[in-house]
Amino acid sequence: MKKILYIESSPRKDRSHSINVTNKYIEKIKASGDIEIKKIDLWNYDLPEFDGDMLNAKYAAISGSEASAPENNAWAKVIEIFNEFQDADHYIFSVPMWNFSIPYKLKHYIDIVTQPGLSWSYSPEDGYSGLMTGKEATVIYASGDGYGEGTGFESYDLQKPYVTLWLTFIGFEKIESFIADRTLFEPEESEARALKS
Ligand SMILES: Cc1cc2nc3c(=O)[nH]c(=O)nc-3n(C[C@H](O)[C@H](O)[C@H](O)COP(=O)(O)O)c2cc1C
Repeated sequence: MKKILYIESSPRKDRSHSINVTNKYIEKIKASGDIEIKKIDLWNYDLPEFDGDMLNAKYAAISGSEASAPENNAWAKVIEIFNEFQDADHYIFSVPMWNFSIPYKLKHYIDIVTQPGLSWSYSPEDGYSGLMTGKEATVIYASGDGYGEGTGFESYDLQKPYVTLWLTFIGFEKIESFIADRTLFEPEESEARALKS
């Protein structure tokens, strides 16, 4: 059975275009195989502050130095969240564009799970290596306006390039994307177009 982890980052729920398109995508893949889906709704999820202790724990992990008790406690929470994150074969992300980038809840989640020794590693010989290998990702984007080729606004899109870079950095090689753009201007057409792209 294929394990799917769906990470949802729009708070608009049934008014969200990225969620609507993702639900249609999930219906399709449900019909085509034996899958188990777990959903993380980042607006109803306990994301711990990425604070001094957590940061120091991260730097201790990078440098191999000893962490203090509060830093170890913060790191334990990181590991708990990472363990849930790494336990899937296929990842689905629904991602709204907020101020040309991604919602802060998703960035917060990315900051927590993107850790040395967990999702990536570094050695002087090999440089950076992503550790989330042998997995695939599907990302469904929504944006109010359009930033595709020929719009003249391609460089404003820091949403898809960022998510693609992040997934590649942590080891994903198979990344599929769907875009529901111009949702503020063509809401229905936008959703219909997305899965055909
Ligand atoms: C805080 C915020 C910032 C936004 N910034 C942008 C933006 O920079 N560019 C854009 O085209 N649309 C922007 N929008 C519009 C959303 O991208 C659009 O409504 C999209 O459909 C949101 O995804 P959702 O429908 O899945 O929630 C913004 C919306 C919000 C709430």
